[in-house]
Amino acid sequence: MADVAFQRCINPACGAEFDRAQAIFKCPQCGDLLDAQYDWDRVPVPSKLADFGKRWATRDQRLDFSGVWRFRELLDFCPDEHKVSIGEGQTILQQNCAIAEQLGMKSDVLHLQYEGLNPSGSFKDNGMTAAFSHAMMVGATSCACASTGNTSASVALYAHSCGLKCTVFIGSGRIAFGKLSQAMDYGAQTIQIQGDFDDCMKQVQDVCTKLGLYLLNSLNPFRLEGQKTIMYRIIEALGWEVPDWIVVPGGNLGNSSAFGKAFLELKQLGLIDRVPRLAIINATGADTLTDLVNNKKLVWNGGNVDNKIIDGFYADLTARNFSPHTCASAIEISRPVNLKKCLRALDVCDGVVRAVTDEEICDAKALIGKYGLGCEPASAATIAGLKHLLAEGTIAKDERVACVLTGHALKDPNVTVNYHKDNQGEFSNPPIEAANDLHEIIKLIR
Ligand code: F0G
Repeated sequence: MADVAFQRCINPACGAEFDRAQAIFKCPQCGDLLDAQYDWDRVPVPSKLADFGKRWATRDQRLDFSGVWRFRELLDFCPDEHKVSIGEGQTILQQNCAIAEQLGMKSDVLHLQYEGLNPSGSFKDNGMTAAFSHAMMVGATSCACASTGNTSASVALYAHSCGLKCTVFIGSGRIAFGKLSQAMDYGAQTIQIQGDFDDCMKQVQDVCTKLGLYLLNSLNPFRLEGQKTIMYRIIEALGWEVPDWIVVPGGNLGNSSAFGKAFLELKQLGLIDRVPRLAIINATGADTLTDLVNNKKLVWNGGNVDNKIIDGFYADLTARNFSPHTCASAIEISRPVNLKKCLRALDVCDGVVRAVTDEEICDAKALIGKYGLGCEPASAATIAGLKHLLAEGTIAKDERVACVLTGHALKDPNVTVNYHKDNQGEFSNPPIEAANDLHEIIKLIR
């Protein structure tokens, strides 16, 4: 490819390359996933990561303010004039001594990357700023996505600011109200399909192909380029040092895929000297990755993934009419579209996969609420998974860990209120009924 940025099929037996200005989302030759790729010799990448930090001094400039585009040389697929930004990526890495101590870790090793601070309240904005920039570059006028909620909120917000028509597909009754309210408020056409996320994902691909809509799910390789920057910001917040572990919830597996690609590239560019390990946490009610990796021994194998294992697994899901169920509705997904890229990330980062119950998720969420900045249920799977990994000795108590808290605490108030109100768990903190009487009220104060 003569161009500095292009798309390439991840299947090494195919490896077909395509222009960056095509909006195709799957390899037209073999149907596999596409990557954004760069001719790194022609990209002006700084010689050390710390140079990106200089942009804090020029944050009055739109692109230097963005926590995504501050790292633009590492996702150099689109000219500046097409780059979209609504101030995404102003997120923080919180060192959390209290939770570390609760988990029996050394007090200074646990960090929580709070992506709930993004404009639409989830990590999705990192990806959307990149994907919408690509959409503007290719002249898209209308777009669509399937979603468990956060993608639809983020797409709706960016579509409105870019002037694109937008349709979002959600599974009827499968979305937390905070997220549904955002999609409607931001003006997206919201279609509730009588089915689950996997049904929506299938429909949206067909709709996009038939109507020529621009697809914003994480099948879109440019979206994942934006999500790489979550890792750059973690490294930045650690004084440009790499942690020992990244822990992330696994749903459609876009984040984990993006993180693996980020570290692979940084290592190849000589910008880091070691790659952290990756722990991907499923909910037990939606544990396709855990089952395929830990039980069926599915591996990346240099890109020669054993498709028979995957096909057999999905055929069984279909035969059983299986639909995933978890209170962490964001990760209620049984056919993750980025499965193969995620296998690559596990390979690059010597990764592990675990599944945690809804009960563990709710307790972990309350712990994060009590001692941290709060988060939505899917995000709390990280702390629940970390507990497992510490107990089994996979993660040592003195290893430096960064958990990615993917979504804001107010996304799903129902799960939170039910947990506390019904005194369901270890950290339940139910409200107390009081008579409208000063004496009675004072007696209740503890
Ligand atoms: N955490 C939150 C809060 C999410 O919204 C999602 C995905 C994930 C974790 C899983 O991330 O898909 O990259 O593995 N939500 C998507 C949506 C599927 O439609 O909003 P992943």
